[in-house]
Amino acid sequence: MLQSRSAMGASPGTPRLKCQRSRTSTFKLVFQARRGMRVAVCGTVGSGKSSLLSCILGEVPKLSGVVRTCGTIAYVSQSAWIQSGKVQENILFGKEMDSEKYDRVLELCSLKKDLESFPSGDQTVIGERGINLSGGQKQRVQIARALYQDADIYLFDDPFSAVDAHTGSHIFKV
Ligand SMILES: Nc1ncnc2c1ncn2[C@@H]1O[C@H](COP(=O)(O)OP(=O)(O)O)[C@@H](O)[C@H]1O
Ligand SMILES: [Mg+2]
Repeated sequence: MLQSRSAMGASPGTPRLKCQRSRTSTFKLVFQARRGMRVAVCGTVGSGKSSLLSCILGEVPKLSGVVRTCGTIAYVSQSAWIQSGKVQENILFGKEMDSEKYDRVLELCSLKKDLESFPSGDQTVIGERGINLSGGQKQRVQIARALYQDADIYLFDDPFSAVDAHTGSHIFKV
């Protein structure tokens, strides 16, 4: 079952999240997040957290109701998705290089030390013809890619599952 503190605490200015689970795997949800809010959705495995994000992205069809989003969305999936190519290409993802922003994103995602250990830094090729990244490194590259997009809305699906507590806490403060 999906739950949020705000649904129980209901203080003004916090997101409204009401959830009612039915006997099937569907659920009813009334939810509003305003600019600047950070919303965390907690629930057991299989409770529908990833499905909720897929629904916001329009990948899972709704039985009824509407989802309204405003602005661009950056999504970090639960299972890391990395394309074959250089580390830098995976982060820029088609965007122009802005060295200052790029450097800040690497710092925020605790990637600098990792890059130093790679044979050619951020020019190192990942994939079949290059190195294999660890689960945590893949996850942080994904987060870096999302941050670099400068989106209006960020959807993170279990983004700290493969990083250690210290790194997770560093990224969370972003
Ligand atoms: N692609 C899919 N097709 C059909 N059922 C799915 C699919 N993905 C997830 N489900 C089902 O939806 C429910 C919620 O799953 P999920 O959103 O992955 O939960 P969580 O992310 O909270 O672990 C589960 O019962 C799961 O089996
Ligand atoms: Mg999930």
